[in-house]
Amino acid sequence: VKRITPAQIEAMKGGRPIVSLTAYTTPIARLLDPHCDLLLVGDSLGMVLYGMETTVGVTLEMMIAHGQGVMRGVKHACVIVDLPFGAYQESKEQAFRSAARILKETGCDGVKLEGGEEMAETVSFLTARGIPVFGHVGLMPQLINTMDGYRSLGRSEKEAEKIRRDARAIAEAGAFGMVVEGTVEPLAREITAAISVPTIGIGASPACDGQILVSDDMLGLFNDFKPRFVKHFAELAPLVSKAAEAYADEVKARTFPGPEHTFKPKK
Ligand code: KIV
Ligand code: NA
Repeated sequence: VKRITPAQIEAMKGGRPIVSLTAYTTPIARLLDPHCDLLLVGDSLGMVLYGMETTVGVTLEMMIAHGQGVMRGVKHACVIVDLPFGAYQESKEQAFRSAARILKETGCDGVKLEGGEEMAETVSFLTARGIPVFGHVGLMPQLINTMDGYRSLGRSEKEAEKIRRDARAIAEAGAFGMVVEGTVEPLAREITAAISVPTIGIGASPACDGQILVSDDMLGLFNDFKPRFVKHFAELAPLVSKAAEAYADEVKARTFPGPEHTFKPKK
């Protein structure tokens, strides 16, 4: 089987909701792949895997290394890799260089970048040169240093109009879809109706063409905080703690390793 292509994702507009999750490593990618249309190697890995406070410190090298890991585990889903902060905002040429490295060195299907009208020229530059681009509008975590904290957007008409224009610009520039993050439901619904490519929501209501969550959030593995839009579909954190505790107890009691785990000389 071949992986789902960006064109196939684009063609899912208005149909069965697109299922998407983040993946950062081979074993998790392998487990999620059969159930997902789209897997995102998100720069959220800076916070989730590396304990960073924001995504601003994530490097292109980190994204490539994790992109390679994910690609080794995926047979079915379309895989896109986030362009990290600082690897594309300077110019469309810089964006092309970074995106081409990601595509060449990981073999993934496309890249994602945050931004609205100001990134439209970059999106068309990349797509015209063979790089499928996914957009990301609404709440854009890479802008944390110029934002007034994390909050849902689109409550005021001025804020909503800005995000509407961003989504339109990115779609018209040739993106094959876009993440809509942290917007109130009416705005997510309007954007989804107004653009010709799929919207993948996170904290953006059921009105989008698909949904994405950070896998570690939905697995109950990353519990530093739990925003309203996160649902735990499992509670893995206590399982990991209990397993570590049981291991520690058995090592201290010398009940692990047992005879069945021990290599014996031949008689
Ligand atoms: O980095 C990430 O995980 C993301 C998704 C939450 C959309 O950008
Ligand atoms: Na991201």
